[in-house]
Amino acid sequence: MKTHRVGIIMNGVTGRMGKNQHLMRSIVEIINQGGVRVSGKDSIMPDPVLVGRNEAKLKELSDLSGVKKFTTDLESVIGDPAYGIYFDAQTTGRRAGAVRLAASNGKHVYCEKPLTSDFQTAIDLYDFCEKAGVKHGVVQDKLWLPGLLKLKRLIREGFFGKILSVRGEFGYWVFEGHTVPAQRPSWNYRKEDDGGIIVDMLCHWRYVLDNILGKVKAVSCLGATHIKERVDEQDHPYQVTADDAAYVTFELEGGIIAQFNSSWCVRVRRDDLLTIQVDGTRGSAVAGLRKCYTQDYGNTPRPVWNPDIEQSIDFFKDWAPVPDDKKYENAFKAQWELFLKHVVFDEPFPWTLKEGAKGVQLAEKGLESWDKRAWVDIPEI
Ligand SMILES: NC(=O)c1ccc[n+]([C@@H]2O[C@H](COP(=O)([O-])OP(=O)(O)OC[C@H]3O[C@@H](n4cnc5c(N)ncnc54)[C@H](O)[C@@H]3O)[C@@H](O)[C@H]2O)c1
Repeated sequence: MKTHRVGIIMNGVTGRMGKNQHLMRSIVEIINQGGVRVSGKDSIMPDPVLVGRNEAKLKELSDLSGVKKFTTDLESVIGDPAYGIYFDAQTTGRRAGAVRLAASNGKHVYCEKPLTSDFQTAIDLYDFCEKAGVKHGVVQDKLWLPGLLKLKRLIREGFFGKILSVRGEFGYWVFEGHTVPAQRPSWNYRKEDDGGIIVDMLCHWRYVLDNILGKVKAVSCLGATHIKERVDEQDHPYQVTADDAAYVTFELEGGIIAQFNSSWCVRVRRDDLLTIQVDGTRGSAVAGLRKCYTQDYGNTPRPVWNPDIEQSIDFFKDWAPVPDDKKYENAFKAQWELFLKHVVFDEPFPWTLKEGAKGVQLAEKGLESWDKRAWVDIPEI
């Protein structure tokens, strides 16, 4: 077995996503499993260095992860040829500058979404990386969720007949912090720090729709700031300046209509934190993060409206789970493995900075639609 070592500069790993999803559940897991196996005779072994602002936090993370190398000085490693990849999970506003620095130093670039908070910077960043001749990718984790992989399989098998509509329901109650601590960072609720659910979630819906259901052609979006005051990490109350809910309709190619509610101010009474229902002429499915349930034409009940009697149909009963057809990896790890194979063996990796920019474009068009109170077309890029 030939081992190909790949140095990875991991910036922003003291944060929620960087630590949990990218370091602990992806890179450390890959190291522990002996690398990414390729074709039986090669393996790719990540060799990370952790980068952050706070030395004590980095030391703690180093102890937890077993990754020995860490630094608070990005400049000290960015020019080091021992590292071929720069990874960024910093807060969104810090990404563009760091990615440019990395690409000008010849590093391949992989980063969290949203790529940036505005479309022009995102597409410029894509051009910049192309001109620098480096490989690049953006996290599009939902594509590797077991529930969505099952949905994709059903579409491929023609289960739905003609797909008519899609309904996405995303969200949960994010505590304000006055009594129960908030479970998301406070910058998410400040526009001036690139917060807001539209910027956060529409880039996810862009790649989910484009890749699984149909290219997004137009958007109509109504945002809201339902909760006006929250409490930050230092226990200080602050004014919420960003949207915390978005009620959005998308027009997809093929005449499919997709409606997505995204909210940090809803309580969950559904199968999962994200559910996506697809209704077609021959059948329907509801995908959650891991499970996916189907109801085909033959199993479709025939309800008749009569509020004067108790409902006789159990609407959950006639749905069948799609069986697991393999062991599903953590979605972030699955995409990391593909990116590493792309870097080392030039395997295809279509989830580039251009795809990331499309997500930012949709978010920006969503904000424009909300502002204008009108439908907005999505130009092809
Ligand atoms: N793929 C997904 O599903 C998903 C989910 C949540 C967040 N995200 C994205 O991941 C990124 C990080 O989000 P998070 O929730 O982990 O946030 P977080 O606040 O927990 O972490 C942010 C990271 O950026 C660093 N940082 C912030 N300000 C800095 C500064 N001035 N100098 C240097 N470093 C600084 C922090 O130290 C920390 O490591 C965001 O872009 C966010 O949009 C993606």
